Amino acid sequence: MSDKVYIFDTTLRDGEQVPGCRLNTEQKLTIARALESLGVDIIEAGFPISSPGDFEAVNRIAKEIRNTTVCGLTRAVKKDIEVAADALKPAAKPRIHTGIGTSDQHIFTKLRLDRDQVLERGTEAVKFAKKFVEDVEFYAEDAGRTDNEYLARVVESVIAAGATVVNIPDTTGYCIPQEYGAKIQYLKENVKNIDKAIISTHCHNDLGMATANSLSGVANGARQIECTVNGIGERAGNTSMEEVVMAMKKHGMLDFETAIHTQKIYEISRLVSETMNMPVQPNKAIVGDNAFSHSSGIHQDGVIKNRDNYEIIDPAEVGVSESSIVLTARSGRAALFYRLQKLGVTLDHDALEVAYQEFLKMADKLQTVEDPHLKELLQFVKVA
Ligand code: KIV
Ligand code: ZN
Repeated sequence: MSDKVYIFDTTLRDGEQVPGCRLNTEQKLTIARALESLGVDIIEAGFPISSPGDFEAVNRIAKEIRNTTVCGLTRAVKKDIEVAADALKPAAKPRIHTGIGTSDQHIFTKLRLDRDQVLERGTEAVKFAKKFVEDVEFYAEDAGRTDNEYLARVVESVIAAGATVVNIPDTTGYCIPQEYGAKIQYLKENVKNIDKAIISTHCHNDLGMATANSLSGVANGARQIECTVNGIGERAGNTSMEEVVMAMKKHGMLDFETAIHTQKIYEISRLVSETMNMPVQPNKAIVGDNAFSHSSGIHQDGVIKNRDNYEIIDPAEVGVSESSIVLTARSGRAALFYRLQKLGVTLDHDALEVAYQEFLKMADKLQTVEDPHLKELLQFVKVA
């Protein structure tokens, strides 16, 4: 089995479904160019039948993006597939992503079909999509809540029909890591010809497990991760690209490789946040404002002595210029000394003590003490 893990970005499809995140074609193109330069392997550009605007955006991205696979989503419906094929016609590497719900919940109460009918519809959709493109991905919607034995039958049938990738979405973010990993392992062990297709993870974050589930999928044999920048997506969002990429990088996970240029992560995070009007929560892993900022005295002292004491990622690795020492009423003398030094002021022991006592009085009244406050503070201190 290859050690390459393909990064399938669905910011422009699953991410863009979020209310308030709709993009026009130019905005989609800007993000698609940034994703290509980041090094993602597949860009899911949209759901072409959903609106004329989405068709146009997928079509323009298909024309312009040459190095990355461009993918369009469809239901297991002929018309959807024809429209997606049309939108993807100019693509250098087109992929159709088609599928259907496979959980009993979806089969009986959403689709109002039975299991055999769903298996047949999914298989027919793959066969039909193969008439237009070689690269066809099948999604078993709500696979997270699908009975494994039935899921295996569906996966085997769509691989026989020509699916190159089988996507096992935890659509409702229901699974926990060992359960999701066991599902992938079950498919690896029970589906005939499973190695003819790549198994893909597509995890939602309703229980905050999306990243952990995706990694568990990879540990059990999946070789594609579907994710979005900043983890945006339906409800609580999708697996966050920056989290899975950096987790695999930091842990050297079985030498799994991705082609992502991690130094571009922060830049694309800001681009997506600004273009889609989706602020990044300050404590968001990797890209949040506080991800590389240290505010308590003990941590600040440790980081000033040696950043590895409290940082597992060098900020430059993800394109953040430097980590920050934020001054609050919980900061210590080391942090104050460090920040004053950055302003060109070096205090001796006694002067630092005076400054620190004044600093605490000030800090108790403020959320953070900034450079102009520090300059005010210096009037109490004799600077050598
Ligand atoms: O969450 C999901 O199941 C999806 C599919 C359409 C792939 O987004
Ligand atoms: Zn999804």
